[in-house]
Amino acid sequence: MLFDSHAHYNDKRFDDDRDAVLSSMRENNVGRILNSCSSLAEVGDILAICEKYPFVYASVGIHPHEVAGLTDADMDALIKYAAYPKVKAIGEIGLDYYYDFSPRAEQKEWFARQAQIASELKMPVIIHDRDAHGDCMDILRTVDVSGVFHCYSGSKEMAREILDKGMYIAFGGSLTFKKAARPIEAASYVPLDRILIETDCPYLTPEPHRGKRNSSLYIHYVAEKLAQIKGLTVEEIERATYENAEKCFGITE
Ligand code: NI
Repeated sequence: MLFDSHAHYNDKRFDDDRDAVLSSMRENNVGRILNSCSSLAEVGDILAICEKYPFVYASVGIHPHEVAGLTDADMDALIKYAAYPKVKAIGEIGLDYYYDFSPRAEQKEWFARQAQIASELKMPVIIHDRDAHGDCMDILRTVDVSGVFHCYSGSKEMAREILDKGMYIAFGGSLTFKKAARPIEAASYVPLDRILIETDCPYLTPEPHRGKRNSSLYIHYVAEKLAQIKGLTVEEIERATYENAEKCFGITE
């Protein structure tokens, strides 16, 4: 079975067929899904999905795109939501200097605040880092926290530091794209016991379906590509990444 460690089933692009898609996971070899959160406004919808589908877990957190204007009261709400039993991580949090939808100073402030909360709650983080590798690592060096870098796009050297910190690294659809030299280099470098796989659906659809809406039903393409890169069987990739995700998110049931 496959563990999709990063999905967004609360997204409106699933409004027409969310139940049909999620109900078909078991028969398509998808065993667990972590639904990642981007803003506090999404938490209600995400927890409703988790309640309906026992195999779906959640994170809570505020994406760098959404951090402008956050308040201390929002952090109190985050801490309250983090206590829900199916909430397994704080995320996605981090920095996005590609789009710069929020001022960088605020991105840094609220990333650091949320990472600190995760550290205090002893919960893993899900990191979103786009074109902000240096500042992202600078902030992470100041907090004692575990977790995963989602849709990893950094270098081998940065991967080394993430691994030394005890964190996991997740690869998704971009591993299958034509211009994938950098993620492939990182994926061949990271040891198998520290790798997670993900879709980030409805985004980042893997080849050969690029352009269509993504879902966890396509995660096997990521597993197959990783098997090819590592010179292992798909079954070995499945087993390892499933166990790694359970460990990363502390899922024991
Ligand atoms: Ni995401």
